[in-house]
Amino acid sequence: MEKVRIGVIGVGTIGAVHATALASSALSELIGIADVNDELREKTAQELGIKGYADYRELISLPGLDAVSICTPDDYHLQPVLDCMDARLHIILEKPLATRLSEAETIASRVREYDKKFMMAYIVRFDPRYALAKEAVKNGEIGDIVHMSALRNTSPLSPRYLKGRVSVLFFIGVHDLDQLIWMAESELERLYAESRAMAVKKEVGVDDTVLSLLKFKNGIIAQMNHTWACPVTREARLQSRLDIVGTKGQINIEVWNQGLKIHGPHGIRFQDVSYGPTIYGQRIGNMRTQLEHFLNCIIRDETPLVGIEEGLTGVRAVTALEKSMETGSPVYL
Ligand SMILES: NC(=O)c1ccc[n+]([C@@H]2O[C@H](COP(=O)([O-])OP(=O)(O)OC[C@H]3O[C@@H](n4cnc5c(N)ncnc54)[C@H](O)[C@@H]3O)[C@@H](O)[C@H]2O)c1
Repeated sequence: MEKVRIGVIGVGTIGAVHATALASSALSELIGIADVNDELREKTAQELGIKGYADYRELISLPGLDAVSICTPDDYHLQPVLDCMDARLHIILEKPLATRLSEAETIASRVREYDKKFMMAYIVRFDPRYALAKEAVKNGEIGDIVHMSALRNTSPLSPRYLKGRVSVLFFIGVHDLDQLIWMAESELERLYAESRAMAVKKEVGVDDTVLSLLKFKNGIIAQMNHTWACPVTREARLQSRLDIVGTKGQINIEVWNQGLKIHGPHGIRFQDVSYGPTIYGQRIGNMRTQLEHFLNCIIRDETPLVGIEEGLTGVRAVTALEKSMETGSPVYL
């Protein structure tokens, strides 16, 4: 196989980026998209010159389709994943695996027996800053990890469009949980979290901020800082940081100012240059790298870097942190 014939289910905020990146890649042929939102579906289908389907089951039953990218809302992953497995398609699924542990476990038990590719779209794995940090840790450049500190902050623009369907931990926290577990090369042992419910809670019903403390089985400790209460006017929509202190050195990742400011009549626009910018009509960046990794795994019959176990671990960890917030006590995994 030289090209993967693929479809995208859900072309909202991130699905549209998947679709344009897949349309830009020489490794794939984007066959069609599906979305229940008529306006969005027709607009995206027209822009990409492909067919749009209101019912994704029509898309996934097209003859010759090899794979699908599932970008439906966080709390609606189970049914599309099960249907795509019934259709015998290779699957890339946007994080989180699910927002309910029971659904995540149902998907995991099916995927473990599945003989097609299944990849979790944890895009941060394909950010060169994080991937190179992992290499440095693996090569022993900073010795043994003593502790780690991760931050991923955004503004109320995200919970506003998500309309309270997902918590800050399930939406952005899973990225850092995945990173910390990947760096620690150990399972989580104990988790504790505190949250605050302020303006975001009042507006859309989900907590504004969660601060978490983690202990790994190999002794490493870590903290995480997640909020979507930052001002909309600040530099860049998303800020992320990872600091790793080791016995022989230190690693610092700072994803904030992208090195490009566009001063227009209505203020300054801070343009993303790494996750999924479009240049010369091509969608490039970490999104393209991630999707081409998935496409290459299908073409070369290789195992994706991030699979079902990483997806399930993320859901287990967030569920434990949510229990800790409810009870006020640490939770042991
Ligand atoms: N990796 C990242 O950087 C990143 C960023 C944003 C979102 N996400 C993830 O992507 C997923 C989608 O989030 P989003 O922010 O794009 O949400 P969104 O609401 O913007 O888009 C979801 C789309 O799915 C469509 N949809 C709903 N039910 C459907 C159905 N039955 N069939 C077809 N389409 C259907 C909706 O109409 C909508 O257009 C979530 O899991 C989210 O966590 C990842």
